[in-house]
Amino acid sequence: MFFFNGQYIILIFAPGIAMKKIVVFTGAGMSAESGINTFRDSGGLWEQHKIEDVATPEAFRRDPDLVLNFYNQRRQQVLAASPNKAHIAIAQLEQKFEVHVITQNIDDLHERAGSTNVLHLHGEIRKSRSTVDPNLIYSIDGSALQMGERCERGSQLRPHIVWFGEAVPAMEEAEYITSLADIFLIIGTSLAVYPAANLVAFAKTSIPKYLVDPNAKPIPFIANLKIINEKAGTGIPLLVEKLLNDEH
Ligand code: APR
Repeated sequence: MFFFNGQYIILIFAPGIAMKKIVVFTGAGMSAESGINTFRDSGGLWEQHKIEDVATPEAFRRDPDLVLNFYNQRRQQVLAASPNKAHIAIAQLEQKFEVHVITQNIDDLHERAGSTNVLHLHGEIRKSRSTVDPNLIYSIDGSALQMGERCERGSQLRPHIVWFGEAVPAMEEAEYITSLADIFLIIGTSLAVYPAANLVAFAKTSIPKYLVDPNAKPIPFIANLKIINEKAGTGIPLLVEKLLNDEH
């Protein structure tokens, strides 16, 4: 911070003024306007596929080609998609806030929009990992991951995705980050899948919370929640403009 008294510029270091923390919790609705299917809307992914056929460890053991093909198709959709106005607006929040994006989405649209701090609770579609050592994670060049592609220890690679019935390794970190939020945004999620949906319980009661989703219904147990029944591409740019212009 600096002051000009007509003669001198007085520079005052104010290390104690930390940026407010915004935690942004997103789901499939965030990427809907980028052309990526949600899961539970009409026409959603789970209307076209059975979860137990394509998104469980048992499915991968039973028919790995079917599972790999399901994710190869979704990866092609992600590669063809672009970040929408909501992704771009969330990235702009970093001008004034310490922003933590915690997403259930496996696409990389937040990163491609410029968000620099993204935690993927359910994994990342553009990465694969070893089936013998989950710490061996690789980028997938292009859109396909095939049978026969192996990690450095010789085991088959699998999508780096959290399947139903598997643990969510990043959950504890996400809960801690959320507990520190000064503002909490929830965007485009049905809050239908646990433990991810439980994240809202870790935001302090006292802080302002916003839920942006055209179909959102009141959630009585969440205090200080403002529901914005708009699509993300409409509601988020307006909300971000408000947050950037409000004095906090
Ligand atoms: N803008 C904002 N929200 C939208 C939009 C939009 N344009 N279009 C749809 N929505 C909302 C829907 O109203 C719904 O509440 O997005 C939500 C999508 O809900 P789901 O399809 O259930 O997606 P999500 O909540 O992310 O699912 C959670 O379930 O299948 C698993 O691992 C998968 O991460 C996923 C998890």
